[in-house]
Amino acid sequence: MNPEKTLGKPFVIVSQELPKGWLDLIKDECEILVGSKNGKGFSQSFLNNLDRADALFTLLTDKIDENIIKSAPKLRVVSNMAVGVDNINLKACTKRKIPVGNTPGVLTDGTADLTISLLLAISRRIFEASQDAKNGQWETWAPTGWLESDLNESVLGIIGMGKIGEAVAIRAHAFGLKIVYTSRSSKPIIENKLNAKRLDLYNLLSCSDYISLHVPLNKNTKGLINKEEFKRMKSNTYLINAARGSVVNTDSLYFALTKGLIAGAALDVTDPEPLPHTHPLYKLKNCLITPHIGSATWNTRKRMAELACLNILSGLKGEKLPHCANPEVYL
Ligand code: DGY
Repeated sequence: MNPEKTLGKPFVIVSQELPKGWLDLIKDECEILVGSKNGKGFSQSFLNNLDRADALFTLLTDKIDENIIKSAPKLRVVSNMAVGVDNINLKACTKRKIPVGNTPGVLTDGTADLTISLLLAISRRIFEASQDAKNGQWETWAPTGWLESDLNESVLGIIGMGKIGEAVAIRAHAFGLKIVYTSRSSKPIIENKLNAKRLDLYNLLSCSDYISLHVPLNKNTKGLINKEEFKRMKSNTYLINAARGSVVNTDSLYFALTKGLIAGAALDVTDPEPLPHTHPLYKLKNCLITPHIGSATWNTRKRMAELACLNILSGLKGEKLPHCANPEVYL
């Protein structure tokens, strides 16, 4: 970039290369350094230039820990192109009064659509049936081939009734599913509109035919679904996780799936992530795994990038971020 054009402009490091146009909102206002071009980890230029950075534009795969924050003494804003901020040490940022931006709202529909796709796919054994057909096991139309239960009148338990949970509930209601949910507060609109019922976690686990997770990952939700929780589920229950992998204990999930504690699982997120292709979960017919594609539509991802840019611009001006994950910095 022409040095005259960048003179005096705030310096922003964008951790990974993004498609053309996604950073338009900051391109004239800031001097931008793009880190890695291969999408894997921090590039040397990202690390070498941290001491100059006024702002960081990060992805959910970038671990922004205390060391990174320490290496960036001028840092005024961190903007994560994700709604989840579990990759960022919020405490360290807050201590330095650095606001951390996130991108809620714009990925609600995309993630809810994917959740319902997973629910439909796993509930009708679509992946398994398709594999069987390919593998020569479609010998005839058998009256009892690949049977499963109806969605209509089945119970969907939604753990975490935030924006995405609500969007999933609305879609599921249209399929005739009865909705129960857990949430810190009751949601009268959802209860009135969808006849949804708020339960405590253990009652939800024991009455649901499908359980869908929509909580953020934090110290209270890490390992939320573990041995005891699987034991409470019915043997016909399907678990869907499009939130964060570590909300579920992976070993307990494997046990539950192989010992018949539950009927199946559909995971868009895993622990570890990415799940190595040799992992035994991939071998199970009753486990459908997709590579964290909840928000993977062009429109959604571009809007996430734009929102992340708006957070950067506000942070650099010293204004409140439109979406801030650590609002206590403003107290
Ligand atoms: C998020 O924004 O946290 C999502 O997981 C991205 O798909």
